[in-house]
Amino acid sequence: MPQIVNSPIFWGLYFRIYDRLATMRTNQHLLRECVRYLNVRRGGIYLDLGCGTGNSTLEIARAGGRVQGLDLSTEGLRRAQNKVPGANFMRANLDRGLPLGADSLDGVLAVNALYLSADPENVFAEVFRVLKPEGRFVLSNPRRGAQLSKILLEDLELEWKHLKAKYGRAVGAIGEAAQAGIRVADFMAFLPFQLALKGGSPHFEYVEFWRSSALKAGFNIKRCDPSLYGGQNDTLVLVRPLR
Ligand SMILES: C[S@@+](CC[C@H](N)C(=O)[O-])C[C@H]1O[C@@H](n2cnc3c(N)ncnc32)[C@H](O)[C@@H]1O
Repeated sequence: MPQIVNSPIFWGLYFRIYDRLATMRTNQHLLRECVRYLNVRRGGIYLDLGCGTGNSTLEIARAGGRVQGLDLSTEGLRRAQNKVPGANFMRANLDRGLPLGADSLDGVLAVNALYLSADPENVFAEVFRVLKPEGRFVLSNPRRGAQLSKILLEDLELEWKHLKAKYGRAVGAIGEAAQAGIRVADFMAFLPFQLALKGGSPHFEYVEFWRSSALKAGFNIKRCDPSLYGGQNDTLVLVRPLR
């Protein structure tokens, strides 16, 4: 059954404020770590599944990959195309199969996207099909029971470290107070969207679900990282084995 959280109208509204996330240190850290796990090869071909406004796509492009973004929201894709002009984007529903050839990609990234799928097992099978042998699939999803406050706290902590290192303790404290006010205001604006996602997404799961789905599709599990996004996301690094 279609959910509000899969509706392009929901995402079109959310995308009006979504890119404030791009300024959050905890979100930047999540994207950088995921792209580091993807092990991007210069000139390699990568897919960003559920690319949204292109923040994750941009990180792959910065790492030297040729990147293709896929999303259901035309508003997200419009913003992503402006942000990463050198990338290709396609509008598609990740639950209807991937419109790509077999063995065609060096890596696939899905940051905060797969929990929105009605049928993640089918997505795993499709990603396995489109990856080249030894290609990587990096996915990161919020864990069941994830707490937004912990994401906010990590963000403030990272911001404080940055300001203190750059301007010293006193100026850092003033900057931090201002930044904390901005972040709390951001979180109030995000809250209705985050609550809708938490309540309406089909797959807020524990890591065991992602592990067993990955193994069932034939992937090797290289790593499971529970530490990113304030410790509220589970991030898996999967490898398609050689035949
Ligand atoms: C939380 S955003 C993540 C965006 C990006 N990966 C990032 O980290 O900034 C989730 C994205 O999944 C997309 N999405 C939701 N359901 C989808 C579906 N069935 N097929 C394709 N994209 C979908 C939404 O449009 C949205 O852009």
